[in-house]
Amino acid sequence: QLYETCRNCQRCALADTRTNLVFGDGCPDTPIMFIGEGPGEQEDKQGLPFVGRAGQLLDQMLDIIDLDRSKYYICNIVKCRPPRNRDPLNLEQDACIGWLNEQIRIIQPKIIVCLGRIAACRLIRDDYKITREHGQWVQKNGVWLTAIYHPSALLRDESKRPETFDDLKSIRSKLKECT
Ligand code: URA
Repeated sequence: QLYETCRNCQRCALADTRTNLVFGDGCPDTPIMFIGEGPGEQEDKQGLPFVGRAGQLLDQMLDIIDLDRSKYYICNIVKCRPPRNRDPLNLEQDACIGWLNEQIRIIQPKIIVCLGRIAACRLIRDDYKITREHGQWVQKNGVWLTAIYHPSALLRDESKRPETFDDLKSIRSKLKECT
């Protein structure tokens, strides 16, 4: 029902340029959600999150800790593609966040993993420093939150991958602890 309502959303100008709204993918009956910033070109075309190059890398990374989309839910802060993949504006995030809050309310995850700075600033703390704080855990309203580098950042800078591997192991431990 939420998807059906969201599908026709016109709350911000991104509605005018989208091909498809990208609601989310994976298993809604899960203890763990991954949240990125917003759809890119491939996601906009297919209507699914993280299906482009960054998504392929994310799939490979999560496979290392034995997670695939039958075991987690994945979506974004904004559900429509920002033109030329620019960062989503605060105005757009504000217009869209209600949908995400509803998704979180329905799924009731025990763990939320922010993918990159934009999601971390929105969901953890507005002055979150991804370089310094990635992999750390905070608890908010009974939910454990952490952030890892966005897979696009790992495509640009491979030197960040070992740290992300440590963060993934920490996510695996937290998931064991919580389930
Ligand atoms: N980057 C994101 O943040 N989200 C996607 O769905 C794809 C790329």
